[in-house]
Amino acid sequence: MKVIFLGPPGVGKGTVATRVKDKLGIIQISTGDILREEVKKESDLGKKAKEYMDEGQLVPDEIVIKIIKRRVQKEDAREGFILDGFPRTIPQAEALEGEIEIDKVINFEAPEEVIIKRLSGRRVCSECGAIYHIKNIPPKKEGVCDKCGGELIQRDDDKPEAIKERLEVYKEQTEPLIDFYKKRNLLVTVDADQELNKIIEDTLKVLKSIE
Ligand code: AP5
Repeated sequence: MKVIFLGPPGVGKGTVATRVKDKLGIIQISTGDILREEVKKESDLGKKAKEYMDEGQLVPDEIVIKIIKRRVQKEDAREGFILDGFPRTIPQAEALEGEIEIDKVINFEAPEEVIIKRLSGRRVCSECGAIYHIKNIPPKKEGVCDKCGGELIQRDDDKPEAIKERLEVYKEQTEPLIDFYKKRNLLVTVDADQELNKIIEDTLKVLKSIE
């Protein structure tokens, strides 16, 4: 099963992907996570990507396309994957189309005010990347990851200026993908302004229908 999770920053793509992947026996490939790993390692790629990410801008297409082409060839991607955060531009979608056949694209939708609240309250584990929200999905102990005990931090791009920029970039460059995949009869919309368990249920319903 090869699926894409589409939707604005902060709509909950990563949260849903981490909770459905094991149930489906597939992996999650998040370009955001891969890039943040490179930033942490201070690799050449990471240094270059950080400038764009902190500003809320997209990393250039040629860089992310290369990352994804390599990643989907790996052994653990054989049974299938969720592409979380890729593609994000028409050139990325076209490059992907030339490489692999996608079974379904889930478009997660929520009002902008909900998204802004989710992003402003998000905290992530500095060790394992687990995602929390100070009010909606809090850890058992404030500031500490339930899964690994790591420190919870705020992402540099979750500051108000970068959030605003990311939402604008989404509208300009990523939203056109909704039509792109509608035309290919691949798009299904899931209401992401609901209780997390209901969103997971709706998502699994869509994905199990293509198994
Ligand atoms: P990336 O990491 O992909 O960021 P994003 O798309 O902006 O998405 P997020 O991870 O911010 O949001 P999400 O939808 O996964 O929401 P989450 O589950 O965390 O990318 C970061 C940067 O990397 C980009 O800006 C760009 O620079 C670069 N990049 C990445 N991919 C690229 C590409 N393809 N091309 C070019 N550049 C690329 O949830 C958000 C919050 O809401 C959390 O706090 C969560 O706890 C909470 N929450 C989730 N669901 C619910 C719910 N149902 N109810 C209440 N709260 C909820």
